[in-house]
Amino acid sequence: MSSSSLYAILLLLAFATLAGAKDPSTPLYNYKYVCDANRLKAGGLDIANLAYCDKTLSYFQRAKHLTDSLTLAEKAQLLGSLNKGAPRVGIPRYNWWSEALHGVSNVGDGSKFGKIVPGATSFPTPITTTSSFNESLWKAIGQAVSTEARAMNNLGVAGLTFWSPNINVVRDPRWGRTLETPGEDPYVVGRYAVNYVRGLQDVEGQETAKDPNSRPLKVAACCKHYAAYDVDKWTDKGNMLIDRFHFSANATEQDMVETFLRPFEMCVKDGDVSSVMCSYNNIWGIPTCADARLLRGTIRGDWNLHGYIVSDCDSIETIVQSQKFLDDTPYDGVAQALNAGLDMDCMYYYQKYLESAALQGLVKERDMDNALINDFVVLMRLGWFDGQPVYDSLNAKDICSKEHLDLATDAARQGIVLLKNNGNALPLSTDKHKNIAIVGPHAQATSVMIGNYAGVPCKYVSPIDGLKVYANVTTQMGCADVFCKNETFIFPAVRVVRNADATIIAVGLDLNVEAEGLDRLNLDLPGYQNMLIRQAAQASKGPVVLLIFSAGGVNVTEFHKSNDIDAIVWAGYPGEQGGAAIADVLYGKHNPGGKLPITWYPGDYVSQLPMTSMNLRPIDELGYPGRTYKFYNGSVIYPFGYGLSYAQFTYAVTSPQKMVSKKLAFNLHCVQLSFNNTAYVPPCHGARISDLACDQDDITIDVSVTNTGKVDGTETVILFSRPPQGIVGAPIKQVIGFQSVSVAAGKTEVVTFSLNSCKTLSIVTGSAYVALPTGQHTIVVGTGGNAIEFPFQVTLKK
Ligand SMILES: *[C@@H]1O[C@H](CO)[C@@H](O)[C@H](O)[C@H]1NC(C)=O
Ligand SMILES: *[C@@H]1O[C@H](CO)[C@@H](O)[C@H](O)[C@H]1NC(C)=O
Ligand SMILES: *[C@@H]1O[C@H](CO)[C@@H](O)[C@H](O)[C@H]1NC(C)=O
Ligand SMILES: *[C@@H]1O[C@H](CO)[C@@H](O)[C@H](O)[C@H]1NC(C)=O
Ligand SMILES: *[C@@H]1O[C@H](CO)[C@@H](O)[C@H](O)[C@H]1NC(C)=O
Ligand SMILES: *[C@@H]1O[C@H](CO)[C@@H](O)[C@H](O)[C@H]1NC(C)=O
Ligand SMILES: *[C@@H]1O[C@H](CO)[C@@H](O)[C@H](O)[C@H]1NC(C)=O
Repeated sequence: MSSSSLYAILLLLAFATLAGAKDPSTPLYNYKYVCDANRLKAGGLDIANLAYCDKTLSYFQRAKHLTDSLTLAEKAQLLGSLNKGAPRVGIPRYNWWSEALHGVSNVGDGSKFGKIVPGATSFPTPITTTSSFNESLWKAIGQAVSTEARAMNNLGVAGLTFWSPNINVVRDPRWGRTLETPGEDPYVVGRYAVNYVRGLQDVEGQETAKDPNSRPLKVAACCKHYAAYDVDKWTDKGNMLIDRFHFSANATEQDMVETFLRPFEMCVKDGDVSSVMCSYNNIWGIPTCADARLLRGTIRGDWNLHGYIVSDCDSIETIVQSQKFLDDTPYDGVAQALNAGLDMDCMYYYQKYLESAALQGLVKERDMDNALINDFVVLMRLGWFDGQPVYDSLNAKDICSKEHLDLATDAARQGIVLLKNNGNALPLSTDKHKNIAIVGPHAQATSVMIGNYAGVPCKYVSPIDGLKVYANVTTQMGCADVFCKNETFIFPAVRVVRNADATIIAVGLDLNVEAEGLDRLNLDLPGYQNMLIRQAAQASKGPVVLLIFSAGGVNVTEFHKSNDIDAIVWAGYPGEQGGAAIADVLYGKHNPGGKLPITWYPGDYVSQLPMTSMNLRPIDELGYPGRTYKFYNGSVIYPFGYGLSYAQFTYAVTSPQKMVSKKLAFNLHCVQLSFNNTAYVPPCHGARISDLACDQDDITIDVSVTNTGKVDGTETVILFSRPPQGIVGAPIKQVIGFQSVSVAAGKTEVVTFSLNSCKTLSIVTGSAYVALPTGQHTIVVGTGGNAIEFPFQVTLKK
């Protein structure tokens, strides 16, 4: 061997080692659990005898012992997400940052794919999964993801703390991170959060505990980004206007309570999440990660979080360097965050500056201890200190298992929304539609389907792969990419559709158009996509299906009306199995039942108001229409909750209950609401729910759902309440419950809603009180043609 080839091999080895950091062929860490008696024996540390490993003590006591044994420098080190541990007392390094938005992800260095685990199941993005309105599906996905995460942790390539889900409400359709979220309704978003978090976190049989701070966790979830975070980077006509690092979301207290905080409150109180992440933006000029009222006051105080509060990554640096909040030095910045209640810093600011801030007297060491205890207790609940034997057997066979891939396919099928189906053009039939064409920039979609915060998927089934199971498929993209800037590609696409028995035009957006750090300019399909649709549709002789990939709604007014387009299907971003699900829906193997979790506004909606206007309610003086189905009364392409089926369903309300009566103690007052000047004003407008007995469900509504179609189907019944007329600022209607149900052709099923009047009939007043108005409310069942409604009376007795 020549010396130069030896040199080459050495170089290769060096590169292999470097690459190994990104693509581990060895585990990221080599310990099973911290208090393993054998772990540090060779080094002379009898770890099992340390007080923090004493299992007869509570987690809190053990965490306190550990904290008490640390130096100030070690404490600062351990308060950072990517830390070196405290080897002196046996604490190994730990990387807190892993992600699992819709499958284990490698965003965040705490989890990696490579030789040991090449990929994990990539479920549909949350906006698509949400469209199923199926709470058991949301939880089942969380369970599958946490099983894969635990298996990866056993193999040494994943952490135990996952900073998912993203539960910010979609206030504006331009928001780039819509794909990560459960849509525009705070209650639906909250229910998604509760189910997904419980799926990730709950250890079977130990869903509740006397001491919630000792309840074991499968993995730790995190509800983010708290709060009012929904602007990423908004440019108007090419001019940069604002980004998330500089935006102050000046939301009214009414909107905070009703919309921006509500999903977080449900996540903490009903989901018992073990972490909340604060956001980059300010609210009224105060960075959320330095806002003691929001963190210490609301999350830890009012909601009683059992867990830790973490910053978004480099948030404190952003506060100091980009926002120049109060002209902070880095020492002021870390002190404000710690004092506000921030227990863990994603990245290095605490590690660099907290020790000195403590020595300067800007923070108390005791507050650092308390933050550390919040962090350590979560690691104890995860078994990081003592092991978690129930999951020991999970390994590579549990990742990308057939069961999980089937669940990913099923989730995509349940999430796909049928928006138009003229003359029952769909489903296609394998007899009549043997030779089909699929054209458009997403005909061969693969990575587009998994969106962001994805990992490495097990495998992709693209739309064309999925359709090949049913038919002979020819294809042409018709565009070079999603921007579709070159019309010369359209003609070849038109040529392939001419002789096809059916045409599928796969269009839409991708992460180049809507993504983290990138809000949309408008709602239009990019470039020449509209022209491609028109020309391909005109040239087709068979049925034409417009298949849309996007998170936010797109401007398809023309195609909804056009006779050249027979059907429109929204696939969202349907995950790695998306193509199989799409084909199953188009060929009728699965009857679609998905419903829109967001309003599809007409194209000109976004020219009527800036993205930076936080108000949900209309602002008449400025001509801003309201936002979301709750406050926007203008025309839409498709309303929130809309979605068709190959069957038809009718509703009937079978329960007799039409009123509820509450008692207001004699020494308490009715609340003042404001009424418009033509409205009837009752003597007692209503009561604050904090003044009423609200712990019991007091309304039962049975809805019978009849499938009058020829095929079996799934229908989601969405229940809304409409407050009494004339109350200024009240929502048009609001979701109070939803349930999906399978109904065989010709059959009827009954779904029962048990509701709590204080929660479901209340409104948030202008002064941010939650109040139950007296008088005639309306219950609305469903959206669209088959919706029915009936009056529901609320009376207050003194
Ligand atoms: C929000 O409020 C802060 C503090 O009052 C103010 O400095 C800022 O200009 C406001 N921003 C917007 C976008 O209204
Ligand atoms: C594909 O085309 C061939 C030849 O026309 C035909 O025999 C076959 O049945 C088609 N396959 C499907 C799945 O329709
Ligand atoms: C459009 O694509 C054609 C064929 O690839 C190419 O010749 C032409 O230069 C492109 N036009 C533009 C404006 O990029
Ligand atoms: C886009 O929106 C505008 C205004 O809402 C509408 O007139 C136009 O037809 C829409 N474009 C398409 C392709 O639907
Ligand atoms: C719809 O909302 C706008 C904006 O507040 C308002 O001016 C208009 O009167 C409303 N229209 C109806 C029919 O309620
Ligand atoms: C005022 O309330 C009445 C019902 O009492 C309603 O019909 C009317 O539309 C309301 N007007 C406005 C401007 O909201
Ligand atoms: C909801 O999802 C679960 C889990 O995938 C599934 O078993 C169930 O059939 C779904 N419910 C309906 C009504 O489709």
